[in-house]
Amino acid sequence: MARIAHLSDIHFGAHDQKIVDAATAWLEERRPDLVIISGDLTQRARIGQFGRAAGWINRLKRAGLRILVVPGNHDIPLYDVVRRFAAPLERYKRYISNDLCPFYEDGEVAILGLNTARSLTIKDGRINHDQMVMLRERFAPVAPEKTRILVTHHPLFAMPIGKGGELSEAVGQHEDAVEAACEAGVHLALAGHFHRTYAQSARKMVERSGGALVIQAGTATSTRLRNAEPQSFNWLHVRRNNEMELQVIVWDGAAFRRASHVEYRRDGEIWTAQDVRDPAMVG
Ligand SMILES: [Fe+2]
Ligand SMILES: [Fe+2]
Repeated sequence: MARIAHLSDIHFGAHDQKIVDAATAWLEERRPDLVIISGDLTQRARIGQFGRAAGWINRLKRAGLRILVVPGNHDIPLYDVVRRFAAPLERYKRYISNDLCPFYEDGEVAILGLNTARSLTIKDGRINHDQMVMLRERFAPVAPEKTRILVTHHPLFAMPIGKGGELSEAVGQHEDAVEAACEAGVHLALAGHFHRTYAQSARKMVERSGGALVIQAGTATSTRLRNAEPQSFNWLHVRRNNEMELQVIVWDGAAFRRASHVEYRRDGEIWTAQDVRDPAMVG
């Protein structure tokens, strides 16, 4: 079983330090096999903000945790127009990682992160043709029994974000990207960006498209909340590529606590939420 913590939208510069500290302590105590951070490490891509983000990531690494991270739209300078277009992710590369599309594989999972942050669009993301080729090529040699996980900042799929069920905008070249993910046999698609999770109604986190279970993380530590939804992150226990458990860990004002716990099973291309058999189980 792979135990994966999925955090997103850290936003150093608009973060709450006590929540960062609590998330850090939670990670150091639970010791996931992998910590995935799906973008927006900073609020405005400033050097000081990247310095803090790098310090936090290095602390997790020093604690022996493995990290897979991709950039978000906030990791590209917004107002520094020269830097925005000439070297949009230069600071991200300098402080966080040179690898904008990291790949990780072990005996159970294969995970590809794709950079969807672009200079030309303020907040919308994009997957380009080369990345779609990479998506297919990276997963092609992976053994079929492993779970294939795709990580992006912007969700690949449109999904309900409003109270009336209106759909979000999906990443640029959405249909081609979904097709590539489909062909690559992606089982789980993890993303962030909306600062929203669907912890209270787990079925809404799922969009059945191409056999992938779509999982959105809220913001882990930012003070900028959408619809006053509290900070949270996801805790995944991936047993097989057709069986996983998702817990949403939510900040309650004093500590991170498990708010929901749902088991998912995949039959063919359909992932379905199961009853929670053992509500006391804590991983
Ligand atoms: Fe964000
Ligand atoms: Fe974002």
